[in-house]
Amino acid sequence: TMIVFLLCATLLMFASARPAFNVDANDRPIIGVLAQEVWAPVPGRTSYIAASYVKYLESAGARVVPVMINQTEEEYKTLFYAINGILYPGGGVSIISSGYERTAKIFYELAIEANVRGDYFPVWGTCLGLEELTFLTSGQWLMTSTNTDKLSLPLNFTKASRMFKDFPPDLMKDLASEPLTANIHNWSLTYNKNEALRKFYKVLSTNTDGRIEFVSTMEAYDYPFYATQWHPEKNAFEWKKPFVSHTASAVKSTFYMSEFFVSEARKNTHGFQSQEEENKALIYQYSPVYMGSAGSFEQIYFF
Ligand SMILES: *[C@@H]1O[C@H](CO)[C@@H](O)[C@H](O)[C@H]1NC(C)=O
Ligand SMILES: *[C@@H]1O[C@H](CO)[C@@H](O)[C@H](O)[C@H]1NC(C)=O
Ligand SMILES: *[C@@H]1O[C@H](CO)[C@@H](O)[C@H](O)[C@H]1NC(C)=O
Repeated sequence: TMIVFLLCATLLMFASARPAFNVDANDRPIIGVLAQEVWAPVPGRTSYIAASYVKYLESAGARVVPVMINQTEEEYKTLFYAINGILYPGGGVSIISSGYERTAKIFYELAIEANVRGDYFPVWGTCLGLEELTFLTSGQWLMTSTNTDKLSLPLNFTKASRMFKDFPPDLMKDLASEPLTANIHNWSLTYNKNEALRKFYKVLSTNTDGRIEFVSTMEAYDYPFYATQWHPEKNAFEWKKPFVSHTASAVKSTFYMSEFFVSEARKNTHGFQSQEEENKALIYQYSPVYMGSAGSFEQIYFF
């Protein structure tokens, strides 16, 4: 009886010495999604985030904080140390001079510094977000005009990656052979065009518009930075564009892409100072607006 008692006591001691959460895996990841200027601002609607990006991240177990444009560097720095990753969405603003660009640049530089110190901070760019990352890494506008507005394509996979490593083989086969990835861009990054970019990013897939080969997916060699020229969030959450695929595999690709990025964010242990601060920052403070037949998104968060 004594031995059993001692054993139990020892186990209890170990149990209570453990931290409240597992520091090796943050199971409550919070990801920032960058806002951008609306095309025609009206009072109360000067910037926006398409709700599909929020649902995309939520579907894989993350919560979302909107990262507003036009804040001070101090405010961004505080937010950086409270969130576990950031996503730069698609859209139509300038990647060289806009509120979106200014904010993206501040978080990009904080993310570089953090990762160099061993503070794992993932960054994701979708469409305009990929274009923004090419500008931030190279300091140059490197886009080429392509005929790639409003079509879905199969991916031409080039190299082994972290991003697709855990995708089911059947899904990889469908992504490579069926037009599942939605392209909505007039500008593309042509393969290996720039030295700085070539050193920083590995090209994971390419596509062509029939004439010009361009980069469709990439990941940084030494940083948890990822980007797609296509829109993984649309298959499950946007219904207005007839060329967006909603097949079972297309919707699965939405989930596996999100699951990958959210898993990256679980490796970061930043957090808000208090539950109250966290609550105040979360996107739950806002309600998305259903757009009906207007525009190209089902629901939008306006700020
Ligand atoms: C951001 O700041 C610029 C320059 O001051 C201003 O023109 C713009 O309306 C602001 N946008 C938002 C969404 O605050
Ligand atoms: C796929 O990408 C490779 C470069 O990695 C290129 O040589 C090839 O032509 C591409 N194929 C298609 C069908 O785009
Ligand atoms: C591409 O250009 C066309 C023609 O100017 C325009 O209608 C369309 O909105 C552009 N698409 C994107 C994604 O910017």
